[in-house]
Parts: sequence; structure tokens; C-alpha cells
Amino acid sequence: MDFSRRVFMGASAAFLAASGAKGAETPQPKIAGFDETNAGKVKTAAWTPFSDRKVKVGIAGYGVCKFGAHFGFQNHPNVEVVAATDLNPTACAELAKVTGAKKTYASCEEMYAKDREIEAVFIATDAPSHAKLCIEGMKRGLHVASAVPAVFGEEQLALADELLATVKSTGLVYALFETSAFRPECYAMREIYKAGGFGKLIYTEGEYYHYSAKPIASYNGWRVGLPPQYYPTHANAFYTCVTGGSFTSVTCLGMPSLLSDFQPGKNRYNNPFATEIALLRTSEDGMARMVKSRDVPGASGEKGRVYGQKGSFEARYSGQADISKVAQEKPPLPPGMPAGGHGGSHGYLTDDFIRAILLKQKPVCDVACALNTTVSGIYSHMSAMKDGETLKIPQFQL
Ligand SMILES: NC(=O)c1ccc[n+]([C@@H]2O[C@H](COP(=O)([O-])OP(=O)(O)OC[C@H]3O[C@@H](n4cnc5c(N)ncnc54)[C@H](O)[C@@H]3O)[C@@H](O)[C@H]2O)c1
Repeated sequence: MDFSRRVFMGASAAFLAASGAKGAETPQPKIAGFDETNAGKVKTAAWTPFSDRKVKVGIAGYGVCKFGAHFGFQNHPNVEVVAATDLNPTACAELAKVTGAKKTYASCEEMYAKDREIEAVFIATDAPSHAKLCIEGMKRGLHVASAVPAVFGEEQLALADELLATVKSTGLVYALFETSAFRPECYAMREIYKAGGFGKLIYTEGEYYHYSAKPIASYNGWRVGLPPQYYPTHANAFYTCVTGGSFTSVTCLGMPSLLSDFQPGKNRYNNPFATEIALLRTSEDGMARMVKSRDVPGASGEKGRVYGQKGSFEARYSGQADISKVAQEKPPLPPGMPAGGHGGSHGYLTDDFIRAILLKQKPVCDVACALNTTVSGIYSHMSAMKDGETLKIPQFQL
């Protein structure tokens, strides 16, 4: 896809309608997840500073979800937001205002070409643009954090290999901001898993239900008729971001939707499904059942449960292991740093990314985890389009 200014001007009418461009000041309908700001149990200990360095960050993308400003980069003591960009000048100016960025650019590409200060970038643009902008960012020497998904659809499968290769060749930090990873229950599951409290997971369930007869707006309409499992990460994370493992094969089913966007000829993806249910083999030889659904009125939320050889976690741990010494509470965030929405995950994802850069450690959802979480969904949709044919899923390792 070409993101040049010329294309922006050409597409601007559709864009203004689709992405809330004047947007920046116009009240938008409430979008599920952003008001879920309860971080869960947080340790009462004081936050311990870990560096006196400030990472200079550029932020790209302030669309209908205003995503670029939601993750508290502007509040983190080890960050200085120095640059902001969005193709829409009004959104760009507002992003700069709310994050305190002194410089603005007409596009992310222009920021890469001209800015000499940024060391890291947060890609909060539309889903189809993430992979390309992340790869270009790392080639330009920047650490990158990306909104989900890591790559978009069957057409971008080659970019998955390129993304992995670019992280390997540059040695830079790549982090996927998968919000489920820092939901309180997913955080607790991960700590218990690491301590051996589950043994291997026999079975995992994850769901992302978001009923919307019409999708929320999106840049160039990427959400219209979206194949459900092209957006699998909030459910899949309940396996991949708990265990660090992957899915090796899938059979997935869908049922033609009643919603208008999913009727023949009504979407660019030739996709008839608004709900897809995937049964996956895991890298531990266990099973997982992952749901992505948009056409079930009354169902909502990003949820998951795990069932292991030594114990399980539905609302809490129950099992045979002594987990009394496992800290299930999240650590405190820096003073003034909000936990943010989606289960109080936003601030934690930013903190995890900045620590990965400054302390040279692995982010929770690194590139291998990001691709194992995302590409499995693309194969799930391919399986659903073949009425559940079992497909092998490529594996990604850093
Ligand atoms: N829980 C979650 O993790 C969660 C929730 C909501 C949205 N998201 C993700 O956040 C991202 C943003 O969502 P949205 O609804 O705001 O998207 P959107 O489609 O409304 O907006 C995308 C914005 O990116 C800008 N953009 C595109 N290409 C650009 C470029 N080259 N340079 C500068 N700006 C560019 C566009 O102008 C637009 O304003 C999406 O990828 C979505 O998948 C994740």
C-alpha cells in the first residue's frame, strides 16, 4: 500500500468520513475496552527507578481510537515524546498537543526520513500498515512498538518473515502492544506458569467478542467485513502470552453472518464470516479453542482461561501446586503513569517496551510471540474458508 501524501489527498474524502478526521474534536461513539481501566491488584511497594535516561520517542497514528496517546508515553519518566505524525493534519496536531511532542510530520515515512532525534517509535496506525512501518522503522535504526496485529491477512504473510529477519539483523527491540498480555488475569497466569504452577497447559480458551452491526470507523475502511481471525491476538494471547508458546496447526469454522458487511460482494476480503471459532494444537501438544466474534448481540469482552496438568485458572488459580510465593499482582507503575484501558494494560505495555530498550531485556510480546499470536489467526481464517480443513501453521523463533 502506498501511503504517500498524494494518495492521502486522493483518499481524503473517504478518510474524513471513515476515520473521524475532523475527528480530533468531534465526539466519537464509545469504543469498548478503553474504559476498562481497573489494573487489578497492584503491589503496594513504591516504584523503583531503573534508569536516568529518557528514550526519545516518535508516535505515529491518531485515528478513531486515538491510539497514539493512549499508552502513556507522555507520562513515563524515562520517555520524551519528541515527534508526532498522522496523515490527517488535524489529528496530527492534536496528537502533538496531548503528548507534548514539539515536532510534527505529515507522515510516518517523513518522520523517518527527516527526524534526527527519535530513537524509538510507537506505530498506532491502521492495522494493514503496521508491518511495513515497523520494518522501515527498524531499518532506520529505531526500536519499535506496534499496535496489534503484527501483520495483516494472507497477503502479508511474507512480511511476517521479513519482520522477524529485520529484528534479527538489527538487534533492535520490537514489541507488540497486545493488551490482553497485561490484563490482571493474564499477568497472573503468566507468573504462575513460569513458576510451574500449571505444568503444561492441556487446554486454553480465549475469546474476543465485540458485537457491532456496523464496525467502528477505520482508515480506508479496513474494518469493513474484516475476517474475524485476521484480528486474533486478544484471544490467542491467553496461550501465547502466558506460555511463550505457539500454535502448530488449526481447524477453524465460521457461519455466514446476517450482518450486511458480510454479504457477497460487500467487502474487499470476500469474507462471509463475522464469527470464527478455531481449534488449535499448541506447541506443548495441548489444545486451544479461540473465538473472534462480531455478530453475537449481547456478547462482549476479551477473556480467557487455562487448564494445566497441575492446576487451572478460570477466575483464580485452583490446583495442586504451592503458588503461595508467586507474585500475582502487577508491579507499581512510575508515579503519574496511568495503567490505562483494556484491563489496565496500556501503561504496562509502554513500561515493558521502555525497560526492554534501557535494560536490554526481552519485552513480554517480542517479535516471535507477536507473529505466533497473529499468523496463527490468519491460518485460522484460511481454514474457515476451507470449511475447517486442518492447516499447519508456520513457527517463529527469535
Ligand atoms: N485493544 C487493542 O489492542 C486495540 C484497540 C483498538 C485499536 N487497536 C489498534 O490500534 C490501531 C489504531 O486504531 P484506530 O482505530 O485508531 O485506526 P484508524 O484506522 O482509525 O486510524 C489509523 C490512523 O493512522 C493514520 N496513518 C495511516 N498511515 C499513516 C502513516 N503512514 N503515517 C502517519 N499516520 C498514518 C491515519 O491517518 C489514521 O488517522 C489499529 O491497528 C487497531 O488494530 C488495538
